[in-house]
Amino acid sequence: MAERPAVPVIIDCDTGVDDALALLFAVRHPGLDLRAVTCVAGNTDVDGVVRNTLTVLERAGAADVPVARGAERPLLEPARIAHWHGTDGMGDLGLPAPDRAPVPMDAVTLLRREILASPRPVTLIPTAPLTNIALLLRTHPEVTRNIERIVFMGGAVGPGNATAVAEFNVWHDPEAAAVLLTAGVPITMYGLDVFTRVVVPGADVRRLRASAEPGTRLAGDLLAHRPPARGTAPRDEAAGGLGDAGAVCAVADPAGLTTRRVPVEIALAPGPARGQTIVDLRGRAGESELHDGERERPLVDVGLDVDVERYVELYLSTVERR
Ligand code: BDR
Ligand code: CA
Repeated sequence: MAERPAVPVIIDCDTGVDDALALLFAVRHPGLDLRAVTCVAGNTDVDGVVRNTLTVLERAGAADVPVARGAERPLLEPARIAHWHGTDGMGDLGLPAPDRAPVPMDAVTLLRREILASPRPVTLIPTAPLTNIALLLRTHPEVTRNIERIVFMGGAVGPGNATAVAEFNVWHDPEAAAVLLTAGVPITMYGLDVFTRVVVPGADVRRLRASAEPGTRLAGDLLAHRPPARGTAPRDEAAGGLGDAGAVCAVADPAGLTTRRVPVEIALAPGPARGQTIVDLRGRAGESELHDGERERPLVDVGLDVDVERYVELYLSTVERR
């Protein structure tokens, strides 16, 4: 059987411990062709994100992938960087500064260039607040003609993490997320409901950490920084969640993610619901629609279930090059 050509992908990230896990996977998966990485403020400030991203790519043996600096802050709000990723955004692992600089163009320009230059339609994988992507879609809407789909880590059907109802990436820039949903290309939401479930057992994390290969060892160290159950005593102390890397697994192996195409809206009003992804799983008209008619709402393929073992095995075999 003829081998399928690698899927051209671009990751827009806020590296970030789990963004780093996503980059390591994307670089090493033979079915993915990582054409560029763009950076945005989120887990740390944008300059820290650029530094972390360059360092991770060097460790992974992918120092030639172009990296660009993007938005310093969300469209409307000030940047509110995350507290979960250490003071450097990378779990304070003491990683060295990178040897190279980002490309001399902003993230939106690099995204446009790489999307339009790709011989096959690109899959965009945002694993961060959606500011760069919104700016791209508003500045260069023609890019959608060469975007296959967008698989983003963000949102939640159930509880949030930044607030009771809002997931961090959407909460950080809700207006940008609302722009993303109306991009007019197929969109998959890899939300918190599946994101939190894909956890690598402690025995595997320990094996990765003992590896002599720098990229594999880095994956282990990063996973060790991601306890599966924050704030509670986990049963397997050494286990670590894949986080954003799960969204990249969903591109490499879509069959591991069960999705349903349903209307999704972002709550934009100030107040306790701001940043919530309102996922309509009802499947039929309610009294509101019967009285007032249907509103036009974007349809999104929302991740509702994930084959945890399949993605853990996929991740390990890829990062360890088994
Ligand atoms: C998201 O927030 C960030 O801290 C993680 O990198 C992930 O993209 C989870 O809510
Ligand atoms: Ca992230």
